[in-house]
Amino acid sequence: MVTGGLGFIGSYFVRMALERGYEVVNVDKVTYAARQDLGFERFPNYHFIKADICELTHLPVGVEAIVNFAAESHVDNAILANQDFFHSNVQGVYNLLELVRAKDETDRPLFVQISTDEVYGTILRGSFKETDRLCPSNPYSATKAAADQLVLGWKNTYGLPVQIIRSCNNYGFGQYPEKLLAKTIEFLLRGKKMTIHGDGSYRREWLYAGDNCEAIFLIMERGQVGEIYNVSSGEEHSVLEAASMAAQAVGVDPKDAFVFIPNRPGQDLRYSVNSDKVRALGWRPTRTLADYLKEYVALYRKQLGLDSGDQE
Ligand SMILES: NC(=O)c1ccc[n+]([C@@H]2O[C@H](COP(=O)([O-])OP(=O)(O)OC[C@H]3O[C@@H](n4cnc5c(N)ncnc54)[C@H](O)[C@@H]3O)[C@@H](O)[C@H]2O)c1
Repeated sequence: MVTGGLGFIGSYFVRMALERGYEVVNVDKVTYAARQDLGFERFPNYHFIKADICELTHLPVGVEAIVNFAAESHVDNAILANQDFFHSNVQGVYNLLELVRAKDETDRPLFVQISTDEVYGTILRGSFKETDRLCPSNPYSATKAAADQLVLGWKNTYGLPVQIIRSCNNYGFGQYPEKLLAKTIEFLLRGKKMTIHGDGSYRREWLYAGDNCEAIFLIMERGQVGEIYNVSSGEEHSVLEAASMAAQAVGVDPKDAFVFIPNRPGQDLRYSVNSDKVRALGWRPTRTLADYLKEYVALYRKQLGLDSGDQE
């Protein structure tokens, strides 16, 4: 069972699971962030349940693992109105954990919580390890950290089989154009300028969503139950650098691409996580942002109907 499988990363994971022959039940509430163009119905091993994870009353029969991608995921929205974040990101996880707990001990599915590097907060030098303390800075990361703590509490008290996976910023096709790279490409392709919070100097690690999903499969298949795994590329760019790379891929001079707006309250200066543990299982990222951007822009042009046929 995958939750949030119509969203950006969840849809990469569902496609890969279907292609690998897994029977997939996708539970998604279909918020504004859900994709409508995925075509999963053509797979005979695909099943869809339109539902809010807070309102599920039982797990589908025979479920062996639950991968919980379902969440409200955009920090700006969380700053403006945080109720939906508490609902989906905390109460939703609570409900799923309780549904797992309700099963017979011998029949409990593995519960995989998809978390984020943001739960650790800022680190100016070095990288956080899985054992480091959580120090979230904004309502989104606070709800994700709360969910991680619930998962650990339910593991320690009730013995639930769980894993927590904390990845850095993902990029790839199909991200809702509220997130930095998707929004930059879409705005610039439409001839608009992109907005950058503050001076854009805060640093993030950038990871291809397909690489993240490979790591999730590997952790589920070969990782330890009960453990936390960070997943990061080691490819670090400031927000302005990453957006400038996207501008160049669109063919716009970064000098003409951006409007600077007041910084977000609670802006973390730098995220960085140590991913030695997942790398010890054999995982490595296969793509870099610079390599991917050309392909990304071409896919985006096609989606927006701007493909003039003369693209490489
Ligand atoms: N995008 C990133 O860079 C990133 C990085 C690290 C971790 N994450 C985590 O990965 C997960 C997926 O992120 P994303 O960027 O793909 O998100 P997204 O916003 O693109 O998709 C979220 C999906 O979850 C569904 N959903 C939301 N609330 C739901 C609910 N209550 N019940 C059922 N479905 C619900 C939405 O309809 C949507 O399809 C999230 O948990 C997020 O915290 C994301």
